[in-house]
Amino acid sequence: NETVKVGLMGFGTVGTGVVRIIQGHQEDLVKQTGLSIQVEKILVQNLNKKRSLQVPSDLLTTNAYEILYSPDIDVVIEVMGGIHPAKEYILTALEQGKHVVTANKDLMALHGEEILSKAKEKQCDVFYEASVAGGIPILRALIESFSSDRITKIMGIINGTTNYILSKMSQEGADYQEALQEAQALGYAEADPTSDVEGLDAARKMVILSTLGFHIPMKLDEVEVKGISQVTKEDIAYAKKLGYEMKLLGLAEQNGKGIEVSVEPTLVHKSHPLASVHGVFNAIYVHGEAVGETMFYGPGAGELPTATSVVSDLVTVVKNMKLLVNGQGISSSYKEKKLKADDH
Ligand code: NDP
Ligand code: HSE
Repeated sequence: NETVKVGLMGFGTVGTGVVRIIQGHQEDLVKQTGLSIQVEKILVQNLNKKRSLQVPSDLLTTNAYEILYSPDIDVVIEVMGGIHPAKEYILTALEQGKHVVTANKDLMALHGEEILSKAKEKQCDVFYEASVAGGIPILRALIESFSSDRITKIMGIINGTTNYILSKMSQEGADYQEALQEAQALGYAEADPTSDVEGLDAARKMVILSTLGFHIPMKLDEVEVKGISQVTKEDIAYAKKLGYEMKLLGLAEQNGKGIEVSVEPTLVHKSHPLASVHGVFNAIYVHGEAVGETMFYGPGAGELPTATSVVSDLVTVVKNMKLLVNGQGISSSYKEKKLKADDH
């Protein structure tokens, strides 16, 4: 088989899952795309770090240029997180004609427009399904499945770390700090978990959901945000006594004035399905004028669920690259690029 070579930027929780899925599901990926997918280089910060997955040492690099300027690499997967240098790396990758898959909600919420416009200019794909709700294919649903409808409301639990903490506090009477440390150890939390517990991570995800759902460029400072750091065990126990669960809810709604977006701890009656979404699970309601109410549920963070979304985006990129010629073979533009690269 022809091989599509991938440059992976980041080999932490998500990056490790990406390599595991590409390796473990290779046969299925070939069946779907007709091409082999190979991780050619992996960018890390620290070459000596102990890794949960062993890879040949020459695969790892601390030099981003080995990925960004490699003529062999067609697709860059950015799972390092943060704004800088991730933004510069993605823009350079696109400038070099490489397709990009990212899980970076901070970046897509703040600089999505710039990145997507560079992608358009360079005729490259940028996909970012994993940036919202880990393993739930909610962006694809908003972009494709609801394209015929007019969305009026998006609401849900979109941060796994805080839902894990609130569930542990409610179900086991756990301590806030202890539950947060567990969520960090499980790889659910952001590098700086303040963004999880103060609601910023959820706010960034609401920006992405609203922008796609309502077809308007939503800005982060338009979102009203309140986190869970002030919620006590006592608050949760009291709410429970009255028949409610405390959940960090994101809400984006059309009203007479426009779209209002918020993230805040909310009491949800136990009869409502969102009250029984526990642990790292996320759930998102999308209301459409025609379709009515729909609900999406699944793991919102963690190595393999998140990597599933990343690798599915990669498969879409590869399928797009491989526009079939007479039912078989790789696309002519891809072939041209390959031939040019082979000449060098
Ligand atoms: P980790 O902190 O586990 O991993 C980050 C990786 O990137 C590490 O391998 C690190 O190198 C590398 N890295 C970070 N900064 C640099 C840099 N400046 N130069 C080179 N390498 C760098 O993060 P996650 O895997 O948890 O998250 C990655 C991205 O995915 C983030 O954008 C996050 O928001 C998003 N995401 C995470 C989810 C999750 O469940 N964890 C779910 C959905 C999205 P080294 O290993 O050497 O330290
Ligand atoms: N820190 C994020 C969460 C990761 O807990 O939901 C998934 O986006």
